[in-house]
Amino acid sequence: MLPTIAWQDDAVVMVDQRKLPTREVYVTCQTPQDVARAIKTMVVRGAPVIGVAAAMGLALGLQRSPAAGTKQLTTEFLRHCDLLAATRPTAVNLFWAIDRMKTVFSRRVLAGAGVDDLRRLMRDEAQAIHDEDVASCREIGRLGGALVPQDAGILTHCNAGSLATAGYGTALGVIRGAVEQGRTVRVFADETRPVLQGARLTAWELVRDGIDTTVIADNMAAVLMRDKRINFVVVGADRIAANGDVANKIGTYTVAVLARQHGVPFYVAAPRSTIDLATSDGSGIPIEERSRREVTHVGATQIAPDQAKVYNPAFDVTPHALVSGIITERGVCRAPYSTSLAALFDRVPEQAVAR
Ligand code: MRU
Repeated sequence: MLPTIAWQDDAVVMVDQRKLPTREVYVTCQTPQDVARAIKTMVVRGAPVIGVAAAMGLALGLQRSPAAGTKQLTTEFLRHCDLLAATRPTAVNLFWAIDRMKTVFSRRVLAGAGVDDLRRLMRDEAQAIHDEDVASCREIGRLGGALVPQDAGILTHCNAGSLATAGYGTALGVIRGAVEQGRTVRVFADETRPVLQGARLTAWELVRDGIDTTVIADNMAAVLMRDKRINFVVVGADRIAANGDVANKIGTYTVAVLARQHGVPFYVAAPRSTIDLATSDGSGIPIEERSRREVTHVGATQIAPDQAKVYNPAFDVTPHALVSGIITERGVCRAPYSTSLAALFDRVPEQAVAR
């Protein structure tokens, strides 16, 4: 399994995803500021691992703090929570991980933990978030793998693999699960403009695993579906609203529309930390807009004139009606999602009761 991120010698080490697939370079973060920069600039990217990185960044802040008392330590900790929360707005795993760290921190302070205890406990909590994510992905892979037909042509978009999680992956976890269960698969990886996570990262991961992988430009999927070379779609998610609307990498919505048109099942694979029951539908999900340079350039090469206007939303929202199922570590949710997603958290949504 790929080492996406790790706590090592009181630092956070991560593979620089901007440099893959041509160079495998590791970045060492010494401070929460370093981690925030790494998230913002996409050294580390992908919803679940952004959450892990933030948790480790908070633990790093405590580790490095000169504070002698819990009052000062708390002030610094909360400042670092704000810093990390301001990095990228769409992936809810980031806010989920920060909230979890905050909750554990305040509980421990109330219970009378000292500065050294807090440092150790919060490092353990960050590691637990990491380890639980790997376990969730494994389970998503096991459950989702069973949905993949024998002799499958699978389309995936962006990178929802080991690199986007603490390990194994969500959408790529489903593909890995299918292979482990003995299915024959051929994977089509959308290149995923503008940042090319599919061509650079998904293809790199799958090729390393010896899985049959074909990179396609984003505008080729319709023809492959028409020709019956794709019969299954699986993607990851950055945030899933309570009604099952799914925010994921820009272009996912296009893929979902094509899948519906061609009668191809469209699955979303995500851990429960990606589900945001507090957001009722996709219209409430903040969509990050990134720099114009990502669109006007491919790597160092300029492909659009300076004078052109650019629109660069990093994510889109796929309406729940286009989603065949949401594969989580607790089971596969089906429509109506307002009920099935709430059940994952043992909650009954008001709408479900009203119906
Ligand atoms: O902008 P990115 O590369 O962070 O976007 C990542 C995605 O959209 C992934 O599909 C999503 O985070 C799921 S990762 C398991």
